[in-house]
Amino acid sequence: MNKVKICIFFLILMAAACRNRDTEIGPLSPIETEGRLDDIAYQPVAYSQTPPPGLPAMEIPLDNPLTVAGVKLGRKLFYDKILSRDSTQSCASCHKIEKAFTDGFATSVGIRGLSGSRNAMSLINLGYFWKQNRVNNFNWDGKFATIEAQVLSPVEHPLEMDANWEVIIEKMRNHPHYPRLFRQAFGINNLNEMSKELAAKALAQFLRTLVSAGSEFDRSQWVPLNFLSDEAQRGYEMFIGDANGSSLLKDAECAHCHSSNRSRALFARNNFSNNGLDSVGSLSEFTDLGLGGVNNIARDNGKFREVSLRNIALTAPYMHDGRFQTLEQVLDNYTTGGHPAPNLAIEMSASATIRTLTPQEKSDIIAFLHTLTDSSYFNKNEWKNPWEVESAPWE
Ligand code: HEC
Ligand code: HEC
Repeated sequence: MNKVKICIFFLILMAAACRNRDTEIGPLSPIETEGRLDDIAYQPVAYSQTPPPGLPAMEIPLDNPLTVAGVKLGRKLFYDKILSRDSTQSCASCHKIEKAFTDGFATSVGIRGLSGSRNAMSLINLGYFWKQNRVNNFNWDGKFATIEAQVLSPVEHPLEMDANWEVIIEKMRNHPHYPRLFRQAFGINNLNEMSKELAAKALAQFLRTLVSAGSEFDRSQWVPLNFLSDEAQRGYEMFIGDANGSSLLKDAECAHCHSSNRSRALFARNNFSNNGLDSVGSLSEFTDLGLGGVNNIARDNGKFREVSLRNIALTAPYMHDGRFQTLEQVLDNYTTGGHPAPNLAIEMSASATIRTLTPQEKSDIIAFLHTLTDSSYFNKNEWKNPWEVESAPWE
């Protein structure tokens, strides 16, 4: 036999050996079958989520329904440092459960200790802020329309995780567990179908399960004989003001921006406004352009998102740049009417009673804000780092 024939003979022998291997020593690993994953069972089970009393039903994008396996994969990704360039940072480094998924810094600290320019946002009730056909839903400046789009950004942000999605996905393809988790979550048939888009879908699914509405305030609304303290009750009435019909107390104007008729229980209108943080003579002078930097409309410069105030006592420091350490300082900004700017919100302007709040009234409002803390979620193991609370986290 010449050399070519010998080679062919051995190739045929090897192929025969491969064919038999399945029955002899069990299923082939994904790598050995050139990336095939279809031996692994794919049986998606819907993740059922009933809204708590007071919160509306969550609108879920049709192309990313919540499944048990999808949420599970998303939680792994959220807590896994594999998503950063040097494996030192996970999403949870800046979004810590005990601080309602913020980090406690004025502006967040990324990879290699680098300082970002914005305050890490709370990730509670996020799924409620997605509205179909709306372009500006997420981040302080509304840069992203969907959670799926937002969660792609921290991984490649040079001051956050500074990685490259292609490299991260390649690491996951070679990982002992991620290929199976992606298959179980999305039914992909081959390793090469693992993608950043699917990772983003899984992260978004996990984030949509972070629903919080078990605060003292909620109990006062839904559980008989649970009352707010007199102080907090007065604070609540001023917070809601004329949005609640006639009130004998002053209208602190808060609810115009931090509440809406449609979803009052979220304590966020989620529009954009200038609440008077900086004194500027013209619209081009803001250091951070906020919404205007995203849509290039000058009138929107210096406007930021009217964020939810749920769990606000846990998320200091405050505002997009973390400039205020305490809720007292936040209230002082409002009671002085904010700093002058050509697009200062009307609610902040001269006629507003917001400027006449007495020290007692301010402390009543702060007492109310403290009742928005939901401590029940600290006990939710399913939101915590799986490698800290589960005995077999990969199963
Ligand atoms: C270095 C700190 C840091 C890391 C790491 C980080 N984030 Fe963030 N996150 C932030 C900051 C800061 C913002 C606000 C960004 C802005 O407005 O420009 C934010 C905003 C968000 C928002 C928008 C919330 C809202 O209400 O609009 C989501 C969602 C989010 N992060 C999820 C994640 C996920 C998922 C990861 C991991 C893939 C992650 N973050 C990693 C700091 C971080
Ligand atoms: C004109 C609309 C408007 C009114 C009225 C208003 N806010 Fe705000 N609020 C905002 C905006 C916009 C932000 C985010 C601003 C930023 O970060 O640049 C904000 C931020 C906050 C924050 C910080 C949130 C965080 O996560 O850091 C608190 C606390 C707050 N407001 C409480 C109140 C209270 C209490 C009142 C009533 C006394 C009130 N607000 C009235 C628009 C408003």
